[in-house]
Amino acid sequence: MSHLDRVLARIDADFDASLSRLFDLLKIKSISTDPEFKGDCRAAADWLARELTGIGIAATVRDTDGHPMVVGHKTDTDKPGPHVLFYGHYDVQPVDPLDLWECDPFEPRVVSREDGTKMIVARGAADDKGQLMTFVEAARAWVAETGGLPLSVSVLLEGEEESGSPSLHPFLEANQEELSCDLALVCDTGMWDRETPAISTMLRGLVGEQITITAADRDLHSGMYGGAARNPIHVLADIIAGLHDESGKVTLPHFYDGVIDMPEDVTELWDALGFDHETFLGGVGLKHPAGEADRSALEQIWTRPTCEINGIWGGYTGAGFKTVIPSQAHAKLSFRLVGDQDPDQIRLAFRTHVREHLPDDCEVSFSKHGGSPALRLDFDSPALAKGRQALTEEWGKEAALIGCGGSIPIVGDFKSMLGMDSMLIGFGLDDDKVHSPNEKYEMSSYHKGIRSWARVLDALSQD
Ligand code: BES
Ligand code: ZN
Repeated sequence: MSHLDRVLARIDADFDASLSRLFDLLKIKSISTDPEFKGDCRAAADWLARELTGIGIAATVRDTDGHPMVVGHKTDTDKPGPHVLFYGHYDVQPVDPLDLWECDPFEPRVVSREDGTKMIVARGAADDKGQLMTFVEAARAWVAETGGLPLSVSVLLEGEEESGSPSLHPFLEANQEELSCDLALVCDTGMWDRETPAISTMLRGLVGEQITITAADRDLHSGMYGGAARNPIHVLADIIAGLHDESGKVTLPHFYDGVIDMPEDVTELWDALGFDHETFLGGVGLKHPAGEADRSALEQIWTRPTCEINGIWGGYTGAGFKTVIPSQAHAKLSFRLVGDQDPDQIRLAFRTHVREHLPDDCEVSFSKHGGSPALRLDFDSPALAKGRQALTEEWGKEAALIGCGGSIPIVGDFKSMLGMDSMLIGFGLDDDKVHSPNEKYEMSSYHKGIRSWARVLDALSQD
């Protein structure tokens, strides 16, 4: 029996224990964006450092100005093959609205379907605790079965990915030498569909902005002042409405500078995947693609930039009714970027648009939330071919090369700061409800995800 076959057999035999370890991690409330859960974020980091160290990947918890990083190494200088850095994030999104969860988001459970398939339901099950544990458990099986890993491995686990990774830049800068490897492996993306594994070769970038418009110096009686006093919610609504034209294009000047049309060989690959927007949108109760009218839904999510309002508030929103003209109105917006769009230019264009449309008696303030460019990965790298082959063998279906509408800001920093390419392999599905109530991860994603990493490590270690 080959090493790999023994490792795969051990993964199968130990799967219940792998699941129980994932449950332990899922129980930790590591919501990075809410200061109330600071201690839980540290607890998740401690837990992971202990697990990694337990399997011989000597790991420490490193303080940052925000939540800690976990860094571990198991490096063997006599191992051939590339030295890889595995990246995942242990932080999760907030759970609200809590009343829409069918169970406690931090009491993970297995739900069985009538067709015999199972899923793991909990906040972070798919994004990203389940995914990062696929790698940890694959490494565990390699070490347990063969006494080591097939190549040198370092691990970096972050606790601020869901809140824009503010500590990442300084951390990478300060630890450049330690973290520079030949290739980063990232498990935070999805499969093409439930049977077809995938490697994501494009990621969209992200610019986040929070905006507050202030008019009067206090909330006013809307009978006494209504008509005469400027209402900042009206102002905000007008400004936001002006961000798109009737064809769904973003109106900011030069917004589309740097947007690149996909070469034909890529679009041909994608056409062959047979994306069906009715199935995709039908899964969330929608029918009609709502973005740029002249683009397909697949283009809208993979290759085109967007401007979205993520939240808007102001005035009285409590029970009953209160007739006020609020003093302030607020919104959170984000832009997804593609190609060579420049995050700083987009932010500036947005702020200029707001200032130019601000009427008398209003003031505006902005706060910045993350900024990362889009990313394209090399289609022709030998590592990609090996990863693809390993996935194809595990799933019995050729691994697809896909785009990804989401953003993982660190992947850009790996390239620009550490000169390191990334290979993005993940086992999430579109219906995993990431960032939503009742987030889940397929049991098959967890099990075959572990087996996939065991194979990918083996494949990368071969000449
Ligand atoms: N895992 C996601 C990225 C992702 C989303 C991959 C959808 C595949 C499909 C990641 O954790 C995430 O949500 N990133 C944030 C980044 C932001 C908060 C800086 C995102 O894309 O909104
Ligand atoms: Zn994620």
